[in-house]
Amino acid sequence: TAPLKIGVAGLGTVGGGVLKLLDQHADLLAGRSGRRMIVTAVSARTRGRDRGVDLSGARWYEDATALAADPDVDVVVELIGGSEGIARELCETALSRGKHVVTANKALLAVHGTGLARLAEEHGAVLAFEAAVAGGIPVIKGLREGLAANGIKEVHGILNGTCNYILTEMRETGREFGDVLAEAQKLGYAEADPSFDIDGVDAAHKLAILTSVAFGCAVDFGSVHIEGIRHISALDIDYARELGYRIKLLGIARRYNGNVEQRVHPAMVPIDSPIASVDGVFNAVVADGDFVEKVTFVGRGAGAGPTASAVVADLVDVARGRISPAFGVPSGRLESVRAAPPEERRGAYYLRL
Ligand code: HSE
Repeated sequence: TAPLKIGVAGLGTVGGGVLKLLDQHADLLAGRSGRRMIVTAVSARTRGRDRGVDLSGARWYEDATALAADPDVDVVVELIGGSEGIARELCETALSRGKHVVTANKALLAVHGTGLARLAEEHGAVLAFEAAVAGGIPVIKGLREGLAANGIKEVHGILNGTCNYILTEMRETGREFGDVLAEAQKLGYAEADPSFDIDGVDAAHKLAILTSVAFGCAVDFGSVHIEGIRHISALDIDYARELGYRIKLLGIARRYNGNVEQRVHPAMVPIDSPIASVDGVFNAVVADGDFVEKVTFVGRGAGAGPTASAVVADLVDVARGRISPAFGVPSGRLESVRAAPPEERRGAYYLRL
């Protein structure tokens, strides 16, 4: 069988991890998918940097969008980020040419996910984004395929590794917010604009995607109620501890009055609940299905290795020819979702588990 020809746009932390994984696991991936995977094209801001793998066989593009027109590219891996601009243009161009797109771009999917899914369907292409939510945890496939037989009552979880890392370090070492954030940036966990992490926007992007997969509704980032962790102090964390709670930034989506309410905010999580002990850069997602009941997914939510693991798993799906509807149902059947009105958010800061 013909090899799968891959174009990678964006060679930052995650892009570097993807190249490394494809290189180190070339034989394993060929064995599992039945096809060899080769990187035929790349695009990045700086060309010269040594990325630890031999890219001499790959064509180089300054303009990422041109990568989508290369006949030697079957699948575009979009790791540029941002909901507009080049990333959006690249994904739309690729899908409208019938090329598959694998992306880790949660901002893009949160804002344009429904439209991109429609475009993919119209052109018989795959739109895959396991890496966009909860890093290395296979939560998209877990919900969409693994829990496909359930009516989902609620999904909630820790969706931002940077915030969880900051809250954990503040609790365990009493360090200052700013110091820990700088460290999370150095470790490659934080967004290019870290206010997206600490103000809850990144978690809300991921929640909007999860909501769509879990409940079959159109992706609706605009209706997420969002509060971040800027105002959480060491004192809050101490008081919570005395009362038997831990403070976590949670994303919560649940059925409410016929709609699905979506919210992101710091919450008091009882110490004996399974997600209370999910610390550091780890993420967790709890899904409550009517037949399966509660399922908890835990793993690393950010970083080069875990995110590359999810990106390349999507490439294996593409190589195998597996086409699932991006959000679990044909795009024409994605219904719209509305957040519950604010006065119905009483008790939002305690999570009964
Ligand atoms: N900035 C994100 C986080 C990266 O900290 O979770 C993974 O999406």
